[in-house]
Parts: sequence; C-alpha cells; structure tokens
Amino acid sequence: MSVLEVKGLTKVYQSTGAITTTALNNINFKIEEGEFVGIMGPSGSGKTTLLNLLATIDKPTSGHVYMNNEEISQMKAAKLAAFRRTHLGFIFQDFNLLDTLSIKENIILPLVMAKRPVKEIEQKVIEVARFLNIEAILDKKVYEVSGGQQQRAAAARAMIHNPTLILADEPTGNLDSKSAKSLMGALQQLHEEKNATVAMVTHDPVAASYCERILFIRDGEIFSEIHKGHTKQAFFQEILDVLAMLGGEHHELSAAGV
Ligand SMILES: Nc1ncnc2c1ncn2[C@@H]1O[C@H](COP(=O)(O)OP(=O)(O)OP(=O)(O)O)[C@@H](O)[C@H]1O
Ligand SMILES: [Mg+2]
Repeated sequence: MSVLEVKGLTKVYQSTGAITTTALNNINFKIEEGEFVGIMGPSGSGKTTLLNLLATIDKPTSGHVYMNNEEISQMKAAKLAAFRRTHLGFIFQDFNLLDTLSIKENIILPLVMAKRPVKEIEQKVIEVARFLNIEAILDKKVYEVSGGQQQRAAAARAMIHNPTLILADEPTGNLDSKSAKSLMGALQQLHEEKNATVAMVTHDPVAASYCERILFIRDGEIFSEIHKGHTKQAFFQEILDVLAMLGGEHHELSAAGV
C-alpha cells in the first residue's frame, strides 16, 4: 500500500507586488510502506517546499497529497494537528529540541501529547534510546550533549510514536561526518528492522547513498529517479553522476570543490 501519494502538486509563492515563483510544478510520485526515499536537487529547486507540503506545514496551490489514502492537503486545522501528531515524525537540520527540557523529556513529547499511559512511555523511551545508543544521556539537558547526540535524540522523538512517515530535511546538515554516519546508520536500521517509511531531503551524496531510491528535483519538477542496485558504493557514484547532470548549485559538491 502506498503510504504517500502526491498528485499534480503545484506551489506558487505570491511575493509582495506582482512577483510569483512557481516552486513546484505538477509533481507526481508515490512512496510505498517501508521505503527509504531521498529527495535531492540544486538549491532553490523546491525540496523544502515539497517537504513542507508533505509535513502539512503549508498548503499547495493545486494538487493533492494523500497519506494512507486520506487527503491531507485539504484537511482542516483541528484535524490536521491531530493527524500530524499521530502520523508524522520530523527531523530537522537544526535538531529543534526544546532547550529547557531533558533529552528524555524531548523524546517522549509525542507520547505525552497523545496522553499515553506513563508505563508505556517509560518502556518506549528506553527502547528507542537503546536503538539510537543514547540511553546514557537521557537525563541530561539538551545543551549538555553533543550535536550528534542531539540529532539522535531528535530521531528518537521522530520515531517513538511509530509514525506512518518520518520526514527529514537535511538531517546531517549540521553534523560532522562521524555523527552523520551514525545518524544515517540509525535511519537505515530503523527502515530495515522496523519497516519505517522515511523521506529525506539531503544535499549530501553520502547520506543519500543510504536510501533505496532517490527523487531528483530541478526547477520544481521531477528530473529523474534512481534505485539502489547492489552496493552503496555504486549507488553513491550514480548519485554523483545525476547531480553532475542536474547542474545548479549544490552545497556539498561545491564545498568539496567538485
Ligand atoms: N516563502 C516563500 N516566498 C516566496 N518564494 C519562496 C518562499 N520559499 C521558497 N521560495 C522560492 O521557491 C523556490 C524553491 O525554494 P525551496 O526553499 O523549496 O528550495 P530548496 O530546494 O529547498 O533549496 P535549498 O537547497 O537552497 O534549501 C525558490 O525559488 C525560492 O526562492
Ligand atoms: Mg531547502
């Protein structure tokens, strides 16, 4: 079953004056249950716009987003809040943890908001913390742990309620390569062992090579789609080839002098 279906998705931004930007132009794709999908494309191609529409943070100008066959693009605010809480998990570039809370308090937020029983919450938090190897830092405050640990805590928060879809926007953007590897390893394991469905925007070809499938966007349209073959190494090379073909500004590639 498709967890997510996007049909004719178009987003036109209306800026001050008569200036409009077509950020997404008639996008169509599906994500099946248990898939780990990457979204790549040059700067300004529409990746964040797409993720915001999937996250129900923003509404499309036209077109539809269906999650578990329910149309989320037209849902009313009250229903949407509940839907988002139950069905979505988010991981952002800048971690988005609440500084005044402990790591544990951050991770359990989705279950607290869903008013789950304390016993279930206690059991779940240990389970996800073990999975992400952050058991030892549960009682620390956010500022007392490293960036990599903060991002793994954010990943724990994104998965603790077993959401239908985990959305990640540049989750490795602020991490050193070792922490990035550890986070990507955890996402891959989550996908392989728990059949989680993940859609991740990334500029980083290394992070992207953990995915099974990559959608490339250019100028608000799907430019191409590639699937992982036998090895991560070969997939990485294929990703570089498509990025070279895509042209445009790529933060990671230009930073690496490619
Ligand atoms: N709120 C907004 N109002 C007007 N135009 C916007 C708005 N947000 C984005 N845009 C424009 O829409 C296009 C797509 O932007 P978007 O942020 O989705 O790109 P992106 O692929 O995420 O880029 P990056 O890789 O730099 O993060 C760009 O031309 C951008 O300038
Ligand atoms: Mg962006």
